[in-house]
Amino acid sequence: MTRTGSSSGVLSIKPFRRLWIALSLSSFGDWLSILALTALAGSLTKGSAENYAIGGVLVVKLLPALVFGPLAGAVADRFDRRTTMVIADILRFSLFLSIPIVGRLDWLYVATFLVEVVTLFWIPAKEATVPNLVPKDRLERANQISLISTYGSAPVAAATFSVLALISGVVFSTHRQQANLALYINAVTFLVSAVTIFSLREIPRQDGKVSVPSVLKQIVAGWRFVGSTPMVRGLTVGIVGAFAAGGAVIGIAKVYVKALGGGDAAYGVVFGMVFVGMAVGMFLAPRILKDFSRRRLFGLAIIGAGVALVLIAVIENLVIVALLTALLGAGAGIAWVVGYTLVGLEVEDSLRGRTWAFLQSLVRVVLLLTVAAVPFIAGAVGEHRIKVADAVYHFDGPNAVLLLGAVVAVIVGLLAYRQMDDRKGIPLSRDLMAALRGEEYVPEEPGHGERGVFLAFEGGEGAGKTTQARLLAIWLRDQGFDVVTTREPGSTKIGMRLRALLLDKETSGLSARAETMLYAADRAQHVAEVIRPALERGAIVVTDRYVDSSLAYQGAGRELKVKDIAEVNRWATGGLTPDLTIVLDVPSEVGLNRFASPADRIESEPREFHERVRRGFRALAEAEPHRYLVIDAAQPQEDITRQIRDRVRAILPDPVPATAEAVTSTMPVITD
Ligand code: TYD
Repeated sequence: MTRTGSSSGVLSIKPFRRLWIALSLSSFGDWLSILALTALAGSLTKGSAENYAIGGVLVVKLLPALVFGPLAGAVADRFDRRTTMVIADILRFSLFLSIPIVGRLDWLYVATFLVEVVTLFWIPAKEATVPNLVPKDRLERANQISLISTYGSAPVAAATFSVLALISGVVFSTHRQQANLALYINAVTFLVSAVTIFSLREIPRQDGKVSVPSVLKQIVAGWRFVGSTPMVRGLTVGIVGAFAAGGAVIGIAKVYVKALGGGDAAYGVVFGMVFVGMAVGMFLAPRILKDFSRRRLFGLAIIGAGVALVLIAVIENLVIVALLTALLGAGAGIAWVVGYTLVGLEVEDSLRGRTWAFLQSLVRVVLLLTVAAVPFIAGAVGEHRIKVADAVYHFDGPNAVLLLGAVVAVIVGLLAYRQMDDRKGIPLSRDLMAALRGEEYVPEEPGHGERGVFLAFEGGEGAGKTTQARLLAIWLRDQGFDVVTTREPGSTKIGMRLRALLLDKETSGLSARAETMLYAADRAQHVAEVIRPALERGAIVVTDRYVDSSLAYQGAGRELKVKDIAEVNRWATGGLTPDLTIVLDVPSEVGLNRFASPADRIESEPREFHERVRRGFRALAEAEPHRYLVIDAAQPQEDITRQIRDRVRAILPDPVPATAEAVTSTMPVITD
């Protein structure tokens, strides 16, 4: 409202910037308080009571939102928002200050509970204020920035807590004093926030309402809708499970870190690692796995987090646990962005808000229940020593809780994966490998069970492919195989017209992309009409040139992206790949000089073009050596022929059907 230039960010709107600073400070204080309060509660108790003390803090933090959430929303609408926020911040300041001063566990609970109740009034007041400070078109950006600072402040708080613990470890002697320092700082953040908001004269008095419906009502209303589609069902199961596992980790982290010999500083580091991992996962996964199915990724991320959790529970080494925690966070982060995106993409507009509200309410309930249950589970398990060879493995309550969380995450991840899978029947490993290469895996067309063998000859001009292909075919036929020899371009009626177009020197101005598509079109027809039918009846197909020619000529030669051409051709051929590709490698000047006939359109390309093509073929072979045979084509013809036969023999099917083996095994076998 103070600026008109929409190119400048929302933070250039001064009142919003102030509110954002206040919000960031409060969030930072909130996260710091979780660490400080659990640490303090732990230091105020001894033995297994510590589990309950810490669980209690978390329960007390979560409970008010469930009970008073709707009430606070209604009240926030009735009072002046600026006053509400300022009073709330002053109350939070005083309450946090009182916790270390009183220094008793019961007051810690009461004060924490009250802080949360007060926060319930602060949040709707803030939510309702943002639209008053930011023009409508920049509201989304403003919400994004708010979200970033709400969660982004967590690792900062964790780092601060670690540093404070280290510093105060030198100055103070007890854990309690160390936690207290964090609480004092935390208190101050709220005071600063109060002052900042107080100076915000721009916050208008009343207009517009925020309504906060009851958590229970949202869950009941959401339930019916959620049952209706497998996607949302899978998403719900996944989110609930992930948060249950997350709750287990949060509830037990402090005790576990202590059992591993870590202090408050280590606790802070582990806590922070969750968020570092989350940020990295959220950032990297969508970029690395750009073409991978989002629905599959969701379940996999949760399973991944579960596996990380198993390792956390089993490997009792603080440094490794901290690193694994980042991995756990990455899994959670990926599941979160993917889930968020899926709701955005696949849930229809009118239901989206409801779906989110439902999921968020459910998450709260689940978190509360697990956090409350954790100390009881840990207590019930007790302490065990397991001897593995020479080492003694400690299996205590925390290990059990973590393992349980891990099992839940893995199961739930699997369920979500199965419910949501949109690429049923496609092997995951291939799908994943293709995505890592930045491609989409296109399965071979269903219903085609090829039984034959598919061999391709590739190479530059004049390498002798045609001769070798012919010799190989003769040799194979001699052994009784059904052999089809063919070539590209131009082995079908349609292909012949394309070939004329492609190789005629009269064809001028054909763009590199058009050329690629024409070769792909010829190939699509070739596969459909010649290659696939032959393979299906069990023949051996020997082709002179196939997809690799396009990758080498149009990719390396014309300098188009090889990846794109591979994609087009995968689609054109339905993913049909040769069992073996024989590359006849020859320096381009040797090959080009072998010609008697006048050069065609492609042959008349300059030397450098043909050199690039040659390097292109070699690079393809090097990337997948098991699928290629590269032969130096400068050798005598007989040597080349023999090398080809040796390699082809290894992949030939048994000319006698396997089922007939028992009957024929007594007969002498004649081989050459
Ligand atoms: P052809 O006379 O069959 O070549 P050769 O006798 O060398 O095998 O003509 C095919 C020409 O087309 C050749 O110069 C290579 C080129 N070509 C491509 O550029 N891309 C392709 O995908 C294919 C199949 C061929």
